[in-house]
Amino acid sequence: MSTETGSALESAERVLRQNWLEGEQDGTHYSYTQPSPSRYPWQWYWDSCFAAIVWRRFDSGRSRAELKSLLAAQRHDGFIGHTIFWHRPVSLGRLPFYNVASRSAMQTETIQPPLLAWAWRIAVGDPAEEPGIAAQAEWLAEHRDLEGDGLLWILQPDESGLDASPKFDPVWGRRASARPGFPCLVRRNRRLGFDARRVRDAGGPVLCETVVNTLSSLSLQALGRPSVTPALIDRLWDESHGLFLDEVQPGGARPDAITWAALAPLALPDLPEEIGHRLVEEHLLNESEFLTPVAPPSVAASEPSYEPGGNRGPIRRYWRGPTWVNSAWLLWLGMRRLGYEEAAARLARMLIGAVQREGLREYYDPRTGAGLGAKDFAWSTLIAELADPDPTAVASYL
Ligand code: GLC
Repeated sequence: MSTETGSALESAERVLRQNWLEGEQDGTHYSYTQPSPSRYPWQWYWDSCFAAIVWRRFDSGRSRAELKSLLAAQRHDGFIGHTIFWHRPVSLGRLPFYNVASRSAMQTETIQPPLLAWAWRIAVGDPAEEPGIAAQAEWLAEHRDLEGDGLLWILQPDESGLDASPKFDPVWGRRASARPGFPCLVRRNRRLGFDARRVRDAGGPVLCETVVNTLSSLSLQALGRPSVTPALIDRLWDESHGLFLDEVQPGGARPDAITWAALAPLALPDLPEEIGHRLVEEHLLNESEFLTPVAPPSVAASEPSYEPGGNRGPIRRYWRGPTWVNSAWLLWLGMRRLGYEEAAARLARMLIGAVQREGLREYYDPRTGAGLGAKDFAWSTLIAELADPDPTAVASYL
């Protein structure tokens, strides 16, 4: 094992162990990895899935325990929230920005990209053997498949996990995440019970979003259900741009900001090769868009909204330029599957170098690799997947 690999694995294990939290709430045992103990103390749905994937390398019992905690928070109807407030309720200061029904709520009423079944497949075993996982898929199908083609719709930008991405600017405008009107969006959707159909019928917007549906397709395939990749292509693939573009309803607009999300379906093992090659050659390996020294930036360098150094000022605006390790890993999976071995190895090497110099930060400057945002950030431990590839990763572990 090379020194770089050894050091990436060592930092990953140290941060996972340090961020681990166990406790009991009303007789329910919980245990999970805090995304970053000082900044993000609660259990975030997709952060937990990523952490569980990496835990399998050091203590597979913890992968199971982490995902079981998500299932312990599951409501009887199958719903699992975006954030679960196990040990303390949401603070008053954060209340206007959190999608909870009330301050004492145990979890939000909104979702995050549903990758639980896929994470379970990678880290634990067959997700079909855990009834709660299928129950969540049923809830999503019943409440979020608004057009009957298997694709899911979101009612808030943060449901995508990509909170303030510039691709949401034309959709939510002043009510987008980290904009002054965001608390109005939360208040309005709270009044509508965070119900996607009611939101759409009240004038929307609701969004068929690419990352949510990419991870949903991976989860359905992990459960042995029919893939929604063909539906994703039918609805969101844009032949002229060579990108996946979200759809807004009502109205059917297709905002065309170029962000990493437009390439996310590269993680799908059943993506047709000709689409995959276009995503890689026209965008991912294009120096004016995503081929920066420490790639891939969350927004193409050619976009006017690109802020590679992270934004300044008191309000954090995430996903507007810096490189995040989870997105790098998802795109790297596609590069390897399609045979771009050298480019994939370069991407991994540059990111591993940044982690070695800067530690496991929340995100990195794509020009220099300078570490930005929270320190000891849990899902950045996915660097272990890049440093020490799992042979089954080529088919997205399915
Ligand atoms: C930020 C990210 C979101 C993540 C959360 C906790 O809000 O945008 O994706 O789940 O932090 O790490």
